[in-house]
Amino acid sequence: MKFFEGCTALITGASSGLGAEFARQLAPLASRLVLVARRKDLLEELASTLRSIHPQLDIRVFEADLTRSDRRQALADWLANEKLDINFLINNAGLGDHGHFESSDWTRVQEMIDLNITALTHLTHLLVGGMLVRGRAAILNVSSVAGFFPLPNMAVYSATKAYVTSLSEALAIELRPRGITVTALCPGPVPTEFFDIATRPGEEDSSSHFETFPAFVVSAAEAVRDGLRAVANDRARIIPGPLLAAAVTMALVIPFCIVRRILTAKAASF
Ligand SMILES: NC(=O)c1ccc[n+]([C@@H]2O[C@H](COP(=O)([O-])OP(=O)(O)OC[C@H]3O[C@@H](n4cnc5c(N)ncnc54)[C@H](OP(=O)(O)O)[C@@H]3O)[C@@H](O)[C@H]2O)c1
Repeated sequence: MKFFEGCTALITGASSGLGAEFARQLAPLASRLVLVARRKDLLEELASTLRSIHPQLDIRVFEADLTRSDRRQALADWLANEKLDINFLINNAGLGDHGHFESSDWTRVQEMIDLNITALTHLTHLLVGGMLVRGRAAILNVSSVAGFFPLPNMAVYSATKAYVTSLSEALAIELRPRGITVTALCPGPVPTEFFDIATRPGEEDSSSHFETFPAFVVSAAEAVRDGLRAVANDRARIIPGPLLAAAVTMALVIPFCIVRRILTAKAASF
């Protein structure tokens, strides 16, 4: 995709799942990738594999717990010192939690809000000024279809993703006239580490979503391909997978009182 040729992309949560897949798909096109996550060994392993396939690619690794404000600031300072001018920011790092709200672990809930909302917003705030000065740039925020519906048993997660989609839509309108596109990628179920991590100790594996809605499952490769295509075409929002996209589009025109009944019936079976 021509849009990404020669770009300098920063990918958060690049140590696994969608983030690692973004790195793999951008590697043949970008000039430089900056990979960010906590598990530095996995980032280094991915960087070394990509370097062996694409020797022209400059890949940097930055280890950071993005729930920490000082680490986000350290990342921005390091980018400035190294003169790494990011023109494609992929806010992908995210965390889920599956189960009843009242029995959730507060530390986990706080971590989810800090990562899914605060880190994404802060990193965008830290980098958008430089992007505006340099002109053409793009921001891709990984949201979720969970952001379209208030999901019982994933209440805080779906609320964080509603925030991500809303922020992305507003920034898309605000920044487009100044040369920056903003896109919210809203996947349904994608087989990654996400559901293992979202499942609480001793609880039923939350990846049963895959069995409940097999037709809505897309691979990480497909989700990322759709996301990158949407950025290249300056789309504010993309739901990967034609069946899920059609289902969500239809569900969004159903009166909310009916949606609430469907969600109530689903919650009762949990
Ligand atoms: N998989 C799905 O079904 C699905 C559906 C809709 C939306 N999404 C969204 O897709 C995004 C990527 O998730 P995924 O499916 O690829 O799951 P994943 O494989 O669990 O990847 C999550 C990534 O986030 C990073 N991360 C977690 N906590 C972090 C922290 N405190 N600081 C920095 N990085 C952190 C992880 O790296 P480290 O552990 O190394 O830090 C990892 O690279 C998330 O925003 C998720 O909400 C996923």
